[in-house]
Amino acid sequence: MVLIDGKAVAEQVKKEISEEVNAIVASGGKRPHLAAILVGHDGGSETYVANKVKACEACGFKSTLIRYEQDVTEEELLAKVVELNNDDDVDGFIVQLPLPGHISEQKVIETIDYRKDVDGFHPINVGRMSIGLPCYVSATPNGILELLKRYDIETRGKKCVVLGRSNIVGKPMAMLMMQKACPGDATVTVCHSRSNNLVEECREADIVIAALGQPEFVTAGMVKEGVVVIDVGTTRVPDATRKSGFRLTGDVKFDEVAPKSSFITPVPGGVGPMTIVSLMKNTLLAGKKAIYG
Ligand code: GUN
Repeated sequence: MVLIDGKAVAEQVKKEISEEVNAIVASGGKRPHLAAILVGHDGGSETYVANKVKACEACGFKSTLIRYEQDVTEEELLAKVVELNNDDDVDGFIVQLPLPGHISEQKVIETIDYRKDVDGFHPINVGRMSIGLPCYVSATPNGILELLKRYDIETRGKKCVVLGRSNIVGKPMAMLMMQKACPGDATVTVCHSRSNNLVEECREADIVIAALGQPEFVTAGMVKEGVVVIDVGTTRVPDATRKSGFRLTGDVKFDEVAPKSSFITPVPGGVGPMTIVSLMKNTLLAGKKAIYG
């Protein structure tokens, strides 16, 4: 069994990015600039955004954090999005989700200029990704592809089961794994909370990508010997022994699934660090105007 070290790969990719940024700046080019909008004080979102800002520093990017209180109006937020769309110094930006209930996330996403949408959430980027055109690919699926690539995991012709159908992980992940590409070329099945035969599908899978958000959902009895397991789950489960009061728990019962696996990602330290690095890769592409000119 090989433990996939997302943290180590993420460090390596950040180093590669920072070297490229140094070369760009040394030859008189512009330092890439990522802006992030954070609304409210949700613990998870605070942590994610703080880590994104930290990753920008490691990559040599300029970053700007724009904060609003929970009661910001949709109008005010949309005005800021338009301002960032028109700010030539900002190469790419994100609006951290979830947003408060009185704000339409879809409206916000569709107001972002797709050429600066480094999250890859705008319908133009999602559509281009689904037909294999150059675009910003959303961070978690892209990070998983990078892990599969760097660990030389064969996906061509394999049976891949994606658990979960969210817009930001399950759906794009399924699209990418079925694409004529490497990694890709897999036979993909998407299972979700309404699937009748989820366990049977998993048992036949060569690759299981678990993105349901249900702690320890995938058990040893659900996978075959030699399976590749990618665990996207990051549920905060209360844990009084931890200083934070919680521990991050994946969608896979690691202790019993790991011995049956050929490759497996741990939680934390697997997919999580790669997600942020993928955003950094998109920011570098935005800085270089590599996709949309
Ligand atoms: N909330 C959870 N994941 C993400 C992400 O990748 N981007 C943004 N903007 N919000 C998120």
